[in-house]
Amino acid sequence: MSKEIALTGIKPTGMPHLGNYLGAIKPALALAESYEARFFIADYHSLNTIKNPEDLRNYTYEIAACWLACGLDPEKVLIYRQSDVPETFELTTMIMAFTSKGLMNRAHAYKAQVDQNRAKGKPEDHNVNMGLFTYPVLMAADILLFDANYVPVGKDQVQHIEMAVDIAQAVNRNYKQELLTLPKPFVSESTQVVIGSDGRKMSKSYDNTIPLFIPEKKLKKLCNKIITNSQTVEEPKDPDNCNVFTLYKLFATDAQQAALAARYRAGGMGWGEAKAELFNVLNAKISPMRERYNELMADKSSIDKILSDGGVKARELAAAKIKSLRKVMGFDFL
Ligand code: ADP
Ligand code: TRP
Repeated sequence: MSKEIALTGIKPTGMPHLGNYLGAIKPALALAESYEARFFIADYHSLNTIKNPEDLRNYTYEIAACWLACGLDPEKVLIYRQSDVPETFELTTMIMAFTSKGLMNRAHAYKAQVDQNRAKGKPEDHNVNMGLFTYPVLMAADILLFDANYVPVGKDQVQHIEMAVDIAQAVNRNYKQELLTLPKPFVSESTQVVIGSDGRKMSKSYDNTIPLFIPEKKLKKLCNKIITNSQTVEEPKDPDNCNVFTLYKLFATDAQQAALAARYRAGGMGWGEAKAELFNVLNAKISPMRERYNELMADKSSIDKILSDGGVKARELAAAKIKSLRKVMGFDFL
């Protein structure tokens, strides 16, 4: 029996951070062990916000290099750029005709922009381009084009997958057949929310991130910037109520955690030392991957090759799907 398909996309908008790594990249790579995995770079989704071509190109390389450095094996996992699969945009147009405007009005990214405009007394449509408004249609096309069974994502993306299901059902109902596979979101509950340097969820929107592959010196600096309380060196400290220890736990072994917790409770250890311990475990984990990342970024031709090979394979699959859809829909004149 052929394996079920797991597919996910990451928007190239900047280097992934520790939260993206533990919350998205690592679980997706684990999933690739048991499913046929297709991971792509959602560059057309980024176009809504990234209008500078140099930035878009660089972010795309960064995301590809991150996946590869984190262990993605292109022999086993199909990795490609969304923009290399123009069938995506044909499917987008096809399914537009089955997507009600009302459904798009409810999409959270669009709604958030409208709410923000209202709060600022601006016109509702301020800063709303059609790319933002129709974002869930393009995402549905990404998913439906490859008959994905599972889509590993964070909680915020579940609504978009439900919309993809709605759209697929409308198509299937009309043509009275299971033309499009209904996808299921795969939200890994075990992955906790990784906190940022200020104790809130680590997020690019909060400016509290630790990017995955920044140089060692910068990593040290960011560890030192993590917010702690003003307890003196002598005072015993509570590891369970500390941003530094919360992050430490995600990367340290049980024995390392127990040892550092004991030092917290004993007193006599300053925040600088705790932060240095965090840096050490982080750096030990990240260093080998960072080395690989830097090698890839220094010779982008190897990334180009992997992405263009992946694009060719993805296009073959996509072309077959579009061909069958065209036939059923009545676009098959010869
Ligand atoms: P950001 O909030 O930094 O813009 P994204 O929304 O682009 O991050 O998230 C990309 C993926 O990384 C999603 O699957 C999301 O659930 C996951 N993710 C983002 N931040 C965290 C975090 N702090 N902890 C765990 N997972 C996260
Ligand atoms: N919208 C997703 C995000 O912001 C990225 C994305 C685009 C995606 N197309 C997708 C994720 C298809 C999963 C499947 O994170």
